[in-house]
Amino acid sequence: MNTDEVRIIETGRYMELVPLFRESGLEIHIEGDAPPAMITCWRAEDATGALLGGISIEHKGGEFVIGDIAVREESRKHKIGALMLKTAMERIADMEGERIYLVAKAPKFFEKFGFTYLTPEETPNIFNCKTCDQLNVSCHPEFMTYHY
Ligand SMILES: CC(C)(COP(=O)(O)OP(=O)(O)OC[C@H]1O[C@@H](n2cnc3c(N)ncnc32)[C@H](O)[C@@H]1OP(=O)(O)O)[C@@H](O)C(=O)NCCC(=O)NCCS
Repeated sequence: MNTDEVRIIETGRYMELVPLFRESGLEIHIEGDAPPAMITCWRAEDATGALLGGISIEHKGGEFVIGDIAVREESRKHKIGALMLKTAMERIADMEGERIYLVAKAPKFFEKFGFTYLTPEETPNIFNCKTCDQLNVSCHPEFMTYHY
């Protein structure tokens, strides 16, 4: 894949990303046509306009959060996730965010960008999964943060 031809486009159109997020194993909480706390979202597309990936950012309880991020399975490991995450991190910096939180299903990916692990006690009470009965039963997410 020629990643020079990948474009990251801000659309705010969350619904077009939902099938990809679901296929990628993400749990989606929508009210209306987006998660209630979403600020914006981006799509990654190739030169033909085909969807390769998506990312959303949220503002919850006064904190900035990476909401969802996924790359189409066939297109992974070509730095598309990196391009999207950097775009989202730059936007949060532009909004004068001092830190970012997220719940990671792929923590090693986020480690590459300087995210570090939080204990449950250090994690702000802004994630639905903190109160989910599957937490540490069938689901073992990592809570992570990034400080600018
Ligand atoms: C996680 C995900 C978005 C990464 O996208 P990607 O385009 O494949 O990632 P990139 O190619 O940009 O990878 C950037 C770096 O992270 C590493 N990386 C990517 N995914 C990784 C993973 N799952 N585990 C460990 N390292 C990973 C890459 O090896 C690369 O490392 P390098 O810079 O040393 O070469 C993608 O694997 C995905 O959609 N997964 C399913 C959905 C998911 O789990 N989303 C995260 C929810 S929190």
